[in-house]
This record gives sequence, C-alpha cells and structure tokens, in this order.
Amino acid sequence: MTETHATSENVHHGDDPATEASATLLGLIASGLGQSGVEGLVPAGTTRRWALALESDIYEAWVIAWPAGSGLEMHDHEGSTAAMYVVRGSLRERYVDADGVVSVRWLHEGDVVEMHRDHRHEVINLGLDEVVSVHVYSPPLEDQTFRETKAFR
Ligand SMILES: [Fe+2]
Repeated sequence: MTETHATSENVHHGDDPATEASATLLGLIASGLGQSGVEGLVPAGTTRRWALALESDIYEAWVIAWPAGSGLEMHDHEGSTAAMYVVRGSLRERYVDADGVVSVRWLHEGDVVEMHRDHRHEVINLGLDEVVSVHVYSPPLEDQTFRETKAFR
C-alpha cells in the first residue's frame, strides 16, 4: 500500500468547536448512549420509529428502530457532521466515498461509524429482526432527514 485514500470515515474538516462537535466526539456520544438503554425511548410499534435521546445547541441524538425491510433512500445530513452506533442487529449501508464511488458495508451490533458533513448514504435493514441504532448530528438537523427522506418502508 503506497497511497492513502481519504475516506468518509477519516476526513475531518476544520470543525468550529463553538457550534459543531467533531465526528470522533459524536461517535463517543452515540456509542455511550447506545450502551445506556436508550432503545427504551422508542415507542412500541411495527413501523420505523424514533425518539430524541439528547439535545443541545451543538448536537442532537436520536434513537431509531428499523423493522425488517425498512430503510432510508440515499440522503445527506444537511451539512451536519454525524455518527451512528448500532445497538442491536445489523444494517446495510451504501455510501458515496470521497471519489464519488458507491461502496457497501455492513454495520453490526456495537459498530460506530463517523460521518463527515458531506456523507451521503442509504441505510436498510435486510434482516428478519428489528434493528436499533443511535444517530448523533452536529449541528442539530433543521429537518430530520430520517423523517423526511423517502423510506423503503
Ligand atoms: Fe443518514
């Protein structure tokens, strides 16, 4: 390996600490919340559901339940830096890397993913059981992309 390619996971732009937390910090928040029983905040049901877990002027954290077959089509996060932690189950993510190439990866229970402000991805639960994940955005989203984005279900 002679070259290092920037990926969506290791690109950090000069974040302004006054208004925006780093992807690394968001990842720590996401994983900490994910291991703190926040899935209990999500209302019962059979559709894709979510609940606000934490919010501040700098970031907000949501817990999302993804029933089997549910997902979100390709979307960005309105310029927010983000992180995601899988509490239970596995999600398939397709994302656009820095070169515009679409890659696929599986996010499993306990995985944390940091996403720079230009990250674009599609997330879907292709398994048979419901998946729970925590998502943290900084700055907080104007529109909740996981509500507004066209969903698979
Ligand atoms: Fe997203």
